[in-house]
Amino acid sequence: MSVSKLVAAARRARRHAHAAYSNFKVGAALEAADGTIITGCNVENATYGLTICAERVAMFKALSDGHRKFRRVAVVADTDAPTPPCGACRQILWEFGGDLEVILANLRREKGRHRLKDLLPLPFDARLL
Ligand code: THU
Repeated sequence: MSVSKLVAAARRARRHAHAAYSNFKVGAALEAADGTIITGCNVENATYGLTICAERVAMFKALSDGHRKFRRVAVVADTDAPTPPCGACRQILWEFGGDLEVILANLRREKGRHRLKDLLPLPFDARLL
């Protein structure tokens, strides 16, 4: 699976975003260890606080489909500056995906690659319980 295919899947997923309040549409695509791509988009809610980000939608969809190992995640928004995962998403991605490669892109080009361990230093996770 090429990175450009993963980014393309995130761009397609972004079209389904329900961002009626922020108008900030995000798409995510997660690559499972077996090569399956699972996508997500942000889904906002009138209470605002119940909004869920594209990355967590993708991860929860993947988990509910039985995937347990992951390689990479791509995150796409229509902005010049890259859109990195929020703190809550970093926690969830780390807990279920470990040290994923995180690829950030907009509608035209890739904007950066990071390791999740660099985005979430000193994580709290199940090893500490
Ligand atoms: N959002 C995401 O879906 N992923 C990110 O990485 C950053 C933020 C969403 C949440 C909300 O619907 C909108 O973008 C504005 O914060």
